[in-house]
Amino acid sequence: MLIRSKKPGAILPSEITPETSYLNRRRLLAGIASGVVLAGCAESSASAPDEQAVASDGQAPAPGLDAITPEEIATSYNNFYEFGTGKGDPARYAHELTTTPWSVSVSGLVDKPASWALEDLLAGLTPEDRIYRFRCVEAWSMVIPWLGIPLSAVLDKVGVDSSAKYVAFETLKRPSEMRGQRSAFSGIDWPYVEGLRIDEAMHPLTTLAVGMYGKPLPNQNGAPLRLVVPWKYGFKSIKSIVGIRLTRREPPTTWNRLNAREYGFYSNVNPEVDHPRWSQASERRLPSTFLQPNRIETRMFNGYAEEVASLYSGMDLKKHY
Ligand code: MTE
Repeated sequence: MLIRSKKPGAILPSEITPETSYLNRRRLLAGIASGVVLAGCAESSASAPDEQAVASDGQAPAPGLDAITPEEIATSYNNFYEFGTGKGDPARYAHELTTTPWSVSVSGLVDKPASWALEDLLAGLTPEDRIYRFRCVEAWSMVIPWLGIPLSAVLDKVGVDSSAKYVAFETLKRPSEMRGQRSAFSGIDWPYVEGLRIDEAMHPLTTLAVGMYGKPLPNQNGAPLRLVVPWKYGFKSIKSIVGIRLTRREPPTTWNRLNAREYGFYSNVNPEVDHPRWSQASERRLPSTFLQPNRIETRMFNGYAEEVASLYSGMDLKKHY
């Protein structure tokens, strides 16, 4: 399916949550409700979404339109340093991670601090289809059909204290199954951590994904639970979450800790604020080749300005990059 734009850059809310359901969506939802999906039982018989059939037919989308990225690209060209630094490493090695059982510790300024079995944390919450642009700080981008639960629904379920100003997230640290964590060369102080301001966390676009392309989330994409914040650079979308903590203070974030000058806490997609080492004015929409780079202009807040710009009114976005 092509995403028709109301104006260049905008994905209509009706398109973000399309009415067309994937053929196997019902089965997937039933699986999530019963915890079956959390066993990582991606079914080989799962039907491809009809959107994908159009997107992968080799036809370039008409100007101004976003086509869904072929599934095989979104699941083989990844950043997940817990499994290595190469783009192909996560697809090659993430199967070494066991994702069941999975628990998520919810702590800090909440009514019910607890360690939740993932299926209990998500029980009673309705997953939604969300087709989002996904823009990496490295200047490549994709369009992904996620299945996710609004983060706000999870936070409402655990009861956030009014004094909470930020949400901190943490990825699993399990070097025995995550070979990148055993490497002396990663330079990362594990576990991978990320954070959002509370109003960003409560924004309706912010999603906790459990699936993509009508299937359970593959390990390389952050199974069984990963954040998706479509107006921010991809590194904010932390994978394989085991900790959610409500805090008063801005939490540390992995890339900011590694290089604060290059990676800010906000990391909103912004074509006017370049990375110190490269321009952010344009991006390579994958698939991209040497002969057909498929370079497109980057849009403010990744095209979601109408929905999220008000969160930052009055802020100097060059300073709060
Ligand atoms: N989360 C963890 N735990 N570890 C990582 O290395 N990489 C980030 C983000 N989340 C990363 C992570 C980066 S840099 C990007 S661009 C996206 O995941 C990539 O998501 P994808 O592989 O699903 O496209």
